[in-house]
Amino acid sequence: MRIGVLASGGGSNLEAILDAGIPVSVVVVDRPCRAIDLADAAGVAHELVEWNGDRLDFTHRVVDALERHGVELVAMAGFMRILDKPIFDAFPGRVLNTHPSLLPSFRGAHAVADALEAGVKVTGCTIHVAVPEVDAGPILAQEAVPVHDDDTVEALHERIKAVEHRLYPDTIKTFMERT
Ligand code: GAR
Repeated sequence: MRIGVLASGGGSNLEAILDAGIPVSVVVVDRPCRAIDLADAAGVAHELVEWNGDRLDFTHRVVDALERHGVELVAMAGFMRILDKPIFDAFPGRVLNTHPSLLPSFRGAHAVADALEAGVKVTGCTIHVAVPEVDAGPILAQEAVPVHDDDTVEALHERIKAVEHRLYPDTIKTFMERT
């Protein structure tokens, strides 16, 4: 199964996916970022699809980039853009996402800060099938991460990412075996 990974930033989840031996066909990024370097180092193609303020047009260009590489399964790994319906039509039930909270709590782009602000004692990460509604869709895996009394957003997010780096590749592999 040909996998396309969507990333925007540090790319640590992309790195974990590559390290797990998952066959990534293309990495699509919306901005110059470390994910490009990781793709290059792994000998994986990358496509830069720059944000232009038009969500529908942007989504069509992301889908085109994925289809050019024959992608069958899409893994969003820290992709910080909301995508429109065409990607869910092109890859029905085959867009996965990792989110740094125990969904349905703390949806959105500031999940770790929001959890800290709310004073919860436990948060975590969720791997799910993505749907047009943001941070919703069937949950495939979740794991809890304790919040420490003296936590910062950065420290808590690093502990959550450490879990994602194991849980996301494992969940992708299981999803590939069952699909
Ligand atoms: C990950 O924690 C991921 O769950 C989160 O961004 C981080 C990306 O890290 N995604 C979201 O918040 C999406 N709403 P990475 O770039 O190092 O993989």
